[in-house]
Amino acid sequence: MRTLFSSRVGRIKKSAIHEMTKLSKEIEDVAFLSWAKPTSGTPAHINGAAVEAIEKGLTGGYSPSEGLDALRKEIAVKLRRDNHIDATPSQILVTVGAIEGLASAVMAVVDPGDEVIMPTPTYSTHIRQVQIASGTPVLVPLIESEGFALDIDAIKRAIGKKTKAIMLCSPSNPTGTVFSESELRQLSDIALEKGLTIITDEAYEYFVFDEHKHFSIASIPEMKKNVISCFTFTKTYAMTGWRIGYLHADDEWILHIKKAHIPFAICAPVVSQYAALAALKGPQDCVVNFRNHYNTTRDLMCKRLDELSEFLDYQKPGGSYLMFPKILVEEGKDSTAFCKRLLREAKVSTTPGIAFGPTGESHMRVSFCVPEATINKAFDRMEHFFKRG
Ligand SMILES: Cc1ncc(COP(=O)(O)O)c(C=O)c1O
Repeated sequence: MRTLFSSRVGRIKKSAIHEMTKLSKEIEDVAFLSWAKPTSGTPAHINGAAVEAIEKGLTGGYSPSEGLDALRKEIAVKLRRDNHIDATPSQILVTVGAIEGLASAVMAVVDPGDEVIMPTPTYSTHIRQVQIASGTPVLVPLIESEGFALDIDAIKRAIGKKTKAIMLCSPSNPTGTVFSESELRQLSDIALEKGLTIITDEAYEYFVFDEHKHFSIASIPEMKKNVISCFTFTKTYAMTGWRIGYLHADDEWILHIKKAHIPFAICAPVVSQYAALAALKGPQDCVVNFRNHYNTTRDLMCKRLDELSEFLDYQKPGGSYLMFPKILVEEGKDSTAFCKRLLREAKVSTTPGIAFGPTGESHMRVSFCVPEATINKAFDRMEHFFKRG
């Protein structure tokens, strides 16, 4: 009997993140910590630029598939200034969020049966993107006791004949780890030695705290041909719904990645490209304010977690607005059942760690891109939940 659906989509599991969101919506007055979405609105000057572009009649057609020239020029300036990448506009592809950039990159890199190494726990969408390309994700555990550090030796051991790429996000979703320059340089050396491509997801590049620094692998000149770097406006400027991001790669890569980008998107939404241009050219204090807010909410969340140390253990995140505590109570061994019970009984919405790969089991992801009052409400309820037993 012929099956209706491709094996490609058949391999994809239901998203735990979306399932928790759906269940959470059924609960009144839920304390919502499960979505990695900025809760602040897009800054007014960015909204205003989009309205102006609409009123001028600039947004009704397609743009060039690689994006508006003016936007690519401005992105190149930003990449040179903030990421120390020797970028030119021709090396930039404007995409439908980071997601479409990552998906197009994966389609351009991965052939059926190719293996892609992913330090895990990792952003579950990366795993799905490789599966949709009929590739095989090879999940290499991070070292939790060292703040979810890269296990360079384990990565080396995982490389085989079929390995094609390494895919990772830093700062990390879900752990909040900011991989150090030294770790990323070691990874780059491995990629060069073995002829692999590194696909980076740098969605949280501006949200790093304390002594941590964001490092872009593409700033290493020797890596020019071996790295595709994906970025977004979603997090930096609270522009989730605008669906606008971009990737940087060597000119030859761009030619090939565009072959995947065009059939999926034609071009990124044009109105969003004008908004993104305003975001880059306008004042940057909104980014500083977001970072300061997340720094405060991170510290508050860590303090509240310290008070629950009998039940939850955590690594302090150096970046992003996410953290990944380990559930110490017996029931936490099944993170899905645990998070569902926490939602039903304590009205706190979190994401089960298993959604981020097998090494994520016994954990839950909580996000601190929420008002302080939401964190306090959630932790007051969790305290009651745990202490009541
Ligand atoms: C690591 C990471 N990459 C990409 C995205 C999505 O980015 P975009 O909205 O630009 O597609 C998210 C959203 O949560 C994320 O956490």
